[in-house]
Amino acid sequence: MSKIWVKKPMSAYEADIKKSQLKRVLGKWSLTAIGIGAIIGGGIFVLTGTGAYYNAGPALALSFVIAGIACVFAALCYAEFASILPVEGSAYAYAYGTVGEIFAWIIGWGLILEYAMGSMTVAVSWSGYFGKLLKMFGLHLPDYLTTDPQTYIAAGNSGFSMNLPAFLIVLFVISILVRGTKGAAKANNFIVVLKVSAIIFVIIAGAFFINPGNWSPFIPEATTITENGVSHSAYGIGGVIAGASAIFFAYVGFDAVSTQAGEAINPKKDVPFAIIASLIICTLLYILVSLVLTGMMHYTDFNPLGKYPDAIKAPVAYAFDIAGQKWAGNIITIAATVGLISVLMVMIMGQSRIFLGMSKDGLIPQTFSKVNPETGVPTKNLIILGIVISVVASLTPINDLAHMTSFGTLFAFTMVCVAVWILRIKEPNLQRNFKVPALPVIACCGIAINVYLIYNLSIEAQTYSFAWLIIGFIIYFLYSKKHSKLQNGGYGETFKAEQEPLEKPDLDL
Ligand code: ALA
Repeated sequence: MSKIWVKKPMSAYEADIKKSQLKRVLGKWSLTAIGIGAIIGGGIFVLTGTGAYYNAGPALALSFVIAGIACVFAALCYAEFASILPVEGSAYAYAYGTVGEIFAWIIGWGLILEYAMGSMTVAVSWSGYFGKLLKMFGLHLPDYLTTDPQTYIAAGNSGFSMNLPAFLIVLFVISILVRGTKGAAKANNFIVVLKVSAIIFVIIAGAFFINPGNWSPFIPEATTITENGVSHSAYGIGGVIAGASAIFFAYVGFDAVSTQAGEAINPKKDVPFAIIASLIICTLLYILVSLVLTGMMHYTDFNPLGKYPDAIKAPVAYAFDIAGQKWAGNIITIAATVGLISVLMVMIMGQSRIFLGMSKDGLIPQTFSKVNPETGVPTKNLIILGIVISVVASLTPINDLAHMTSFGTLFAFTMVCVAVWILRIKEPNLQRNFKVPALPVIACCGIAINVYLIYNLSIEAQTYSFAWLIIGFIIYFLYSKKHSKLQNGGYGETFKAEQEPLEKPDLDL
């Protein structure tokens, strides 16, 4: 039983890096674009109305600052890890080398919520935006082709139904990813330029329609909102903090940069840079968008039972509609539709690299670590993921489960803060190209704020996510523990080496 806490020795990481068939094609700015590609998506275009009306009012910008700070603590810890262990696998890989196998496994299992389930959520959101885009051109897909069966039947219909656009977009993304990381990164760069331009457009164009009176009072007095017989507290400082949980999904994704370390040209320097740069850029853009939005529309106008009942569903586009600028709303729809493709691309790519790392260690089947020597990507891994994600996204009312994506992310962030601290205490002399300043303070703040945000997620999200983690433990004992390379001498002498103090690894690439 004590073997479940076995740690992967640095020498085993080193061996993995030397054997890696992944192609090192990603520079500093491509990695930063991967971060931005994953971060800016549906979240900023959709969740801002909910955050403003139900939680923070005009102080929504402060909610973005708080969620941004929560992410910065974790981002700094990710950056230190990435500067020591430039391997694919992200938080999973970091935990395996520091805390032990079972801990790493459960983080890897939790990351499926962030990446695979996040991809399903994004595919379904994409389908919604695609429908709006078609509408702009006077086209309309029948409901049975855009709705999952459960929602379709609940709406009083009968017969076959599926979310066809969600299904097809995942297959389209897979067809790009299997051709190689270089091409995927180019497509991502293009999309990132487009969506950042759209966000800057919202900020500049929206600034002309701001009524400063809408910002006053900036933090409305705490009150209770009652809707359909259900009451909940809103506004005040508590509302600002709850708002940070509500919009957290908009930040999900920056850690995807760390899953690409195996393909970075200079991972120890560029991965930390890209994690922090992408997060700072997006945080600044998000703060400005939320200020513009709450300046354009009074926060109470996002009330779904008020005079603009649809405003909360597409708040940014709606704010321009109400300002009489329908064309601007159309630009936002195009940007969101194209922009979500890169979120999907990076999320699926991230999941495939986490599986690759777990498979190399024997915790999941070997098929997931077979890299195609021509393209340098794990083709079978991507295809299996593509099939599962496309089928589930097309048949499940996955929107209900979007909060589970936030749970998986916050869980990983917390664990990375814990693990980086443990490694600093146990291995103070390892070469670190990036060191978190005042680590105990930063790690404690990171842990506290991320746990608090988990606590603020919906009860359903917490229950389903804990159930998911329990399933993970069962699979570990039934399959992974028995197949673990470390536990079965698959790393040769390295298993013995982990019992001895780690030497400074030679991981310079
Ligand atoms: N942060 C990504 C989004 O908002 C997941 O879509």
